[in-house]
Amino acid sequence: MILVTGGLGFIGSHTVVALLEQGYEVVIIDNLSNSSLAVLDGITKITGVKPHFEQLDLRNKPAVHYFFEKHKNIEGVIHFAASKAVGESVKNPLLYYENNIGTLVYLLQEMTRHGLSNLIFSSSCTVYGQAATLPITEEAPIQKALSPYGNTKQISEAILKDTVNAYPAFKAIALRYFNPIGAHPSALIGELPRGTPQNLIPYITQTAIGKREELAVFGSDYDTSDGTAVRDYIHVIDLAEAHIVALARLLAAKNKSNLEFFNIGTGTGSSVLEVIHAFERVNKLKVNYKIAPKRPGDVTAAYADTTLANNELGWQSRLSLEDALRDAWHWEQKLAE
Ligand code: WQD
Repeated sequence: MILVTGGLGFIGSHTVVALLEQGYEVVIIDNLSNSSLAVLDGITKITGVKPHFEQLDLRNKPAVHYFFEKHKNIEGVIHFAASKAVGESVKNPLLYYENNIGTLVYLLQEMTRHGLSNLIFSSSCTVYGQAATLPITEEAPIQKALSPYGNTKQISEAILKDTVNAYPAFKAIALRYFNPIGAHPSALIGELPRGTPQNLIPYITQTAIGKREELAVFGSDYDTSDGTAVRDYIHVIDLAEAHIVALARLLAAKNKSNLEFFNIGTGTGSSVLEVIHAFERVNKLKVNYKIAPKRPGDVTAAYADTTLANNELGWQSRLSLEDALRDAWHWEQKLAE
């Protein structure tokens, strides 16, 4: 049985689909703070399997303890449950430290107490800040976090380091995501941003469908090819697949150390304007946008060197930016039905 925390979230739900399609038995924990039970229906429709689900908040320490007392057959854990809006974390840092750090500690206490040893942790390229060298390798120095969100990911990685040192049988893989985008090709599951989308792609699709007046492009005088910021946009289906191969590595004890880090991206950077124009081209429509001031905390450019994941995990992204932008648009259209 594989436990997926935050399994009804954007990346979590796509990973649950991939796990079920690989024949794993899955139990999902989610507190529904940033998701809905409709996602469980979507997963069931896609795979024909309804995974076990428990509505549980990982901040509830006794409930977490009771869960692990009850489920004795957990062989691996994929931990997605966390808050992830950079801007919100600046306004509400204590929510982020409680939710992203507190819950990781409770989860690790229960896993080590029950002798469980296989954890896949969702980390982030935000730990690198503005890397001095591009593409970014896993050896790039961790720089002072630009937001409480980024800091929670850095602190979480430090907690994992101390945990594997204290508990030699415990092993974990931290996947440092670049920018997850897109949706399942069936358009039965996808990203469900609450309120005004913080991220670029949902803001583009909501502008295209008419829910938003106009997209603001944050900055046009960055030191990039067209002046707009560059990111590594990876299809959520490829990202889900990376979790499957990382889990298999731990279950087969093929890991080379008890805590491994992998950058999960496409290895290609795309500017905001390039994304907008690709979206317009692929979906044959126009996106209404204006140039606006830079957003505090944004880095100029970030894209992954994926050599380690390619060689060690045998994983590389397969889907293109265009595939993701097409799937994101189909999902937005489905939501509007
Ligand atoms: C992308 C680019 C914006 C909105 C995200 C997640 C973070 C982490 C990394 C997982 C930037 C620009 C955006 C808009 C814009 N993922 N933009 N107008 O900031 O790279 O971080 O991926 O851990 O959690 O937040 O992604 O989509 O917010 O921004 O111009 O309305 O699009 O300035 O250059 P970001 P994003």
